Amino acid sequence: MIAARSTRINDKSAMNWTPAALSQDIPSGSAAPGQLGDKDIVIWRSASGRIAAWSDRCPHRGMRLSHGFVRGEFLSCIYHGWRYGDGGQCHRIPAHPELTPPEAIKVPVFAVVESGGIVWVAEKDAEPADLPMEFAGFASFRTIRTTVPASIVAAAFGCTGLELRGTLGGTDVVLLLQPLTDGCNLHVLAADGTGPDQLDRVSVAVEALRRQAESVQEFAA
Ligand code: FES
Repeated sequence: MIAARSTRINDKSAMNWTPAALSQDIPSGSAAPGQLGDKDIVIWRSASGRIAAWSDRCPHRGMRLSHGFVRGEFLSCIYHGWRYGDGGQCHRIPAHPELTPPEAIKVPVFAVVESGGIVWVAEKDAEPADLPMEFAGFASFRTIRTTVPASIVAAAFGCTGLELRGTLGGTDVVLLLQPLTDGCNLHVLAADGTGPDQLDRVSVAVEALRRQAESVQEFAA
């Protein structure tokens, strides 16, 4: 059974931080695409473990930076190799190695913080004063994506929230819904100490819920 907590869809005051990924899915030296509202972002982690969330567009010719590669503390674009570092600043243009790139060549950055195994992202100019909510007693498990909007997923669970709590597969879970432009992510947290067999059952149950939501959407179409 899943029940809703009080956080409401589209209630920006209730959840200014968006759960954009699980920390475990962004290992050191990697980059992955994500979303914040209707904006495409790249979430990446440097070799030393520093997390960052930037616009997913290279300032040069717009290539997705999530297709790029991480070297040390820098993220490089896959197209012409422009290299970006702290604060999104361009540090190197391979075609002009003697040039110090102008300060204006900068990738827009977002506020990002990790808490409880979740990568939370917010608009830089609207960074919440409070840290993201914490889920004591739960550990991040996996993210499942669906093409169903978060509001319909929540409704399929009989809820109106972005944060759902309950029991799935015999395990206490928290589901964080992240609205996307083409559906939503379900970030699944399971009670601390949940073993591999129980986690398998949680996975089966969450996927069943996703199918249930998708059938609700098909029925409504
Ligand atoms: S498009 Fe990124 S370096 Fe050219």
